[in-house]
Amino acid sequence: MQITEQNHLKYKNRINLGSYYTDTKHVDTVWDFIEPHIDDDFIVLDTSCGYGNFLQKKSNNNKKIGNDIDEVAISSSYKNIDDACLFNHNALSEVSRRKYKINENDKLCIVGNPPYNDRTSIIRNNIKQINFNIDNNIKTRDLGISFLRSYDKLNADIVCVLHPLSYLIKKTNFNLLKEFSRNYKLIKGKIISSGSFRQTSKNMQFPIVIALYKKEKDGMNCDYIKHFKFEIQKDLFFKQNSFDYISTYIKKYPNKYIQADKNSILFWTIRDINALKRNRTFIEKASSNTIVVDKKKLDYYIYIDVFKRYISHVPYYLGNCDVIINNSLFLKFKKYFILDSLFYQPKLRQYYAQFDFSQTHYKNLAKEKIQLYLKQLLGEHYAN
Ligand SMILES: C[S@@+](CC[C@H](N)C(=O)[O-])C[C@H]1O[C@@H](n2cnc3c(N)ncnc32)[C@H](O)[C@@H]1O
Repeated sequence: MQITEQNHLKYKNRINLGSYYTDTKHVDTVWDFIEPHIDDDFIVLDTSCGYGNFLQKKSNNNKKIGNDIDEVAISSSYKNIDDACLFNHNALSEVSRRKYKINENDKLCIVGNPPYNDRTSIIRNNIKQINFNIDNNIKTRDLGISFLRSYDKLNADIVCVLHPLSYLIKKTNFNLLKEFSRNYKLIKGKIISSGSFRQTSKNMQFPIVIALYKKEKDGMNCDYIKHFKFEIQKDLFFKQNSFDYISTYIKKYPNKYIQADKNSILFWTIRDINALKRNRTFIEKASSNTIVVDKKKLDYYIYIDVFKRYISHVPYYLGNCDVIINNSLFLKFKKYFILDSLFYQPKLRQYYAQFDFSQTHYKNLAKEKIQLYLKQLLGEHYAN
């Protein structure tokens, strides 16, 4: 199979259309996932096929249909694949099987790597302008979520696509999936890094899941996802509920009824691990993004401050999770966390008068103990 990389779009359009083409190894994973679930009667459709990377599979007899809004991409698809039917439609407008000449009773499997582009995100907002029309019943702030909902409208039997893991594990995103989550159940999920796509940022990698869904009458809920075992690599799995999270112990978001005063300790809003990488922790100036720390819980804010300094030990696939914690273990190691934090946050020393900072080797001791804590917390997920 010859996989082709997108090369005709300039930076701005690449971001607007989410045009990052998929590598052979991920395409092969998709085919490995679907093959046990489809027979020769299935039509395999990619509604955002780019140069047609997912449809170049020669060794099977399925009818293949490709579509892309980008005319140039579709004309390249014609060169790459000889046995697929190709269309040049906006996949999110007037969604129907008719559009692709598929009958209502045909068995349908949807594959691909639809664009994921949060239309409201602040990052690179100036160049994100989505001009094409999206049907109201699938419109959301994220193009990828609209694509998943369009697969439900197409009444696919099997769906196997790449999308950000955050669609499943962030409650606000999961709620936007609506009919898709009511009608489809995740059967298999393999996590890969956004950094494995050429032309994407390597600094802030986020987890993408190659997800196989089957149409099922009970669909799935958040709890089902919390217990789901995602594959990372051979013999390594990630399950959301195998960790405890900081939100069990403190409030993550500002409370507008609690006003800051001159004695307040302020902390930046805690969204998820990737946001913590970007943001500061303790800060001086109050704003709509600051939390007034409940001083009785200061130890937990200190925990987050330290967690940020050691975040390189946390693997990319936990990037969309809340800060993780093992509370009983933390209580045992707490004094080292406090020691470490107070070296960097001298203003907090007044709250821990009993601590002695005179010995410089304490800093190394704290570092050693915190790494030990993280090794136990993360186990096989600890990144060196
Ligand atoms: C991430 S690329 C994937 C391309 C291809 N499936 C692959 O993985 O190699 C996303 C593709 O979605 C297409 N696209 C974006 N919005 C679309 C829309 N509304 N309808 C159809 N295609 C769209 C882009 O032109 C781009 O080719």
